[in-house]
Amino acid sequence: MEQKHDDDPNFLLLLQTLDQQKNWDGCPLVEYNGFWLPLRFFRSILSTLKQFKPENNDLLLASFPKSGTTWLKALAVSIAGRNTIADGQSPLLNSNPHKLVPFLEYDDPDHLKHLPSPRIISTHISYKTLPESIREESECEIIYICRNLLDTFVSYRHFSLDNKLGQGYDDAGPPPLGLDEALDIFCQGIYMSGTIWDHVLGYWKAHLEDPQRVLFLKYEDLQEDTSFYVKKIAAFMGYPFSEEEDKQGVIEEIVRLCSINNLKILEVNKKGKFRSIVKTSSLFRKGEVGDWRNYLSADMARSLGTDHEDNGV
Ligand code: A3P
Repeated sequence: MEQKHDDDPNFLLLLQTLDQQKNWDGCPLVEYNGFWLPLRFFRSILSTLKQFKPENNDLLLASFPKSGTTWLKALAVSIAGRNTIADGQSPLLNSNPHKLVPFLEYDDPDHLKHLPSPRIISTHISYKTLPESIREESECEIIYICRNLLDTFVSYRHFSLDNKLGQGYDDAGPPPLGLDEALDIFCQGIYMSGTIWDHVLGYWKAHLEDPQRVLFLKYEDLQEDTSFYVKKIAAFMGYPFSEEEDKQGVIEEIVRLCSINNLKILEVNKKGKFRSIVKTSSLFRKGEVGDWRNYLSADMARSLGTDHEDNGV
């Protein structure tokens, strides 16, 4: 929920103490708690973080933007509501995964309160910035998905340009920077929800500390053996598949239903906008591992200082 922030003196005072920069696409960012958040949502993010009351059986799907959030949402909804799938009644047929699993920081807090229990909620907020009520006080579980840095960068670039994200809602912003400069800014860590390294590391450490509470997934692993991870996610969520379900092909049906090739041809995902600025179709682009090679040179990849020959982050 976007909010104007010119009427609250305390908020304005806080803003004055924080660093502000622009993302490569022109989107104004503010650095809070070591992470870059979109300025236009900053006030509502802060108030949601303060007010959110987790329930012990909540499931939080966490990710860095463009790491497979939409896929994870589709899978979690399908696993939790798999009885509906057999009757051809999957909610994915009529609703985009983001409608079914709202964002903690972007969607209406009242909507979150009224979700059916157990609630499934998503977030791009870093582990460190999650409300203490989630990190320390509740038993709610977290599934985190991460993805190769360069694929994430390339995916976000397409998404942002396609939706003119940096130019805001009125097309009045500055033109986005070119690929080289954009990668440079990404390397500096000034990036929506960044830095990506700290984002991934925060959830990785939380997973190491308590693997029963934080499941850590890689997009590439999911691509390689989706059925295996669907089973793993289901067991983590507390809804393991029975042998009978396995034999009946329920797992394979969930894999098929949630595949990008299936989701992108559903009428509900082909047209319309999501949160009034994002074209729903832009959520389903290619879904390929290593697509960065089609856009970035080996030198550009090396500028990130990591070995990108494998799929690691
Ligand atoms: P590409 O832009 O590389 O194609 P997020 O959901 O976090 O915004 O991530 C978006 C990326 O996930 C996009 O990657 C998108 O195409 C891909 N994606 C969306 N739905 C998917 C699905 N069902 N299976 C695999 N990848 C999917």
